[in-house]
Amino acid sequence: MSGAVMRVKLGADSHDVYFRGLQDLPRVLREVGLKDHDFFILTDKKVARLYGRRLAGIMKQGKLRCKLHAVPQGEQSKNFVSYRRLIGKLNSFDGLKVRPAVIAFGGGVVGDLGGFLAASYKRGIPLFQVPTTLLAQVDSSLGGKTGIDYVTHKNLVGAFYQPRGVLVDVSLLRTLSEEDYATGLAEVIKYGVIKDADLFAGLERDRARVLARESGYMKGVVRRCLDIKRRLVEKDVYDRQGIRIILNFGHTIGHAAENAARYSLPHGRAVAVGMLCAAKLALLTEHFSARGYRRLAELIEGMGLPTIYRKLKWRDIHASYVYDKKFTTGKSRFVLPTAIGKVKVIEGIPLALVRRVVGQFLK
Ligand SMILES: NC(=O)c1ccc[n+]([C@@H]2O[C@H](COP(=O)([O-])OP(=O)(O)OC[C@H]3O[C@@H](n4cnc5c(N)ncnc54)[C@H](O)[C@@H]3O)[C@@H](O)[C@H]2O)c1
Ligand SMILES: [Zn+2]
Repeated sequence: MSGAVMRVKLGADSHDVYFRGLQDLPRVLREVGLKDHDFFILTDKKVARLYGRRLAGIMKQGKLRCKLHAVPQGEQSKNFVSYRRLIGKLNSFDGLKVRPAVIAFGGGVVGDLGGFLAASYKRGIPLFQVPTTLLAQVDSSLGGKTGIDYVTHKNLVGAFYQPRGVLVDVSLLRTLSEEDYATGLAEVIKYGVIKDADLFAGLERDRARVLARESGYMKGVVRRCLDIKRRLVEKDVYDRQGIRIILNFGHTIGHAAENAARYSLPHGRAVAVGMLCAAKLALLTEHFSARGYRRLAELIEGMGLPTIYRKLKWRDIHASYVYDKKFTTGKSRFVLPTAIGKVKVIEGIPLALVRRVVGQFLK
């Protein structure tokens, strides 16, 4: 295995993650056996504005036929209306001798939507992921979860569908807004807490390089995060054995807060405080040390993420928390840190304690 490639071992669905520049995309598509397809490139309008012309030029130079389609940016595009419209577009693009392949070129929204499109169109056509946000590079492009939202429910409709490959070009991260970059950083910190104390220490030490988005450095960071996710996915590809659950560290309260704020609170900010709530619960139940808690709080703050929820009420967070629980397992289940780099799934934490802890993070 070369240093620039990571193998994801999933039997017949095994594939590689290529840490290469965007200009190498045609070569990589050929390497994964997608040379005879026409490519339906799904992106969003912002990414299209920034990189659309460049990508079209790269595909043309690589002698690959493609059509680029951009949906409006943001979660609003991950729904039935755009899905239905895309099926129509894909169908009129189709019709030649070979079936088209989908390239999802964008953040998690485009990855989930494009993935579901590829999974369902004619019962499945090839999919290739080119994640362009930090969140998509460290998280959503790997693992095969695809889907769309239904009214109030995120990801209610979807399928597991693995891509033929993933190309990660960290230089694309330079154009991300502060907010979108910070969202990805919250997930990076999460990986450090759940599985990788060295990664966590590296983030503490090299904060300036991370914040400067140094490509060489970030390539290593993204690779490390993906490697953690890869190992969890390989062991529990359909997320049925409770192994992938540790990826939800900080997300129990995080999701509830996101929901309570009606999605005006960005995911990364919600998760950052959610991680602190979980760490405080761990501290009060004597699973975690005060020093560990302090290190986490300092790193979160140092990366420009919030340590408190503003303008949110317990009442609203609680309602979403209960609703979420009903929707998933019905149990109160928290992923709590026991050390930096180690977590444990704990059930049955009394609601009164959750309330007391969350209350400390409201302003
Ligand atoms: N499938 C999974 O396993 C999984 C995991 C986590 C999250 N998700 C999903 O991912 C979605 C969130 O993903 P996201 O945070 O990437 O959001 P996103 O796709 O909406 O991207 C965030 C913003 O960044 C912009 N952007 C993308 N790439 C850019 C670039 N290189 N430069 C400048 N701007 C760029 C986009 O236009 C958008 O405005 C949610 O729908 C969530 O449910 C899926
Ligand atoms: Zn997340």
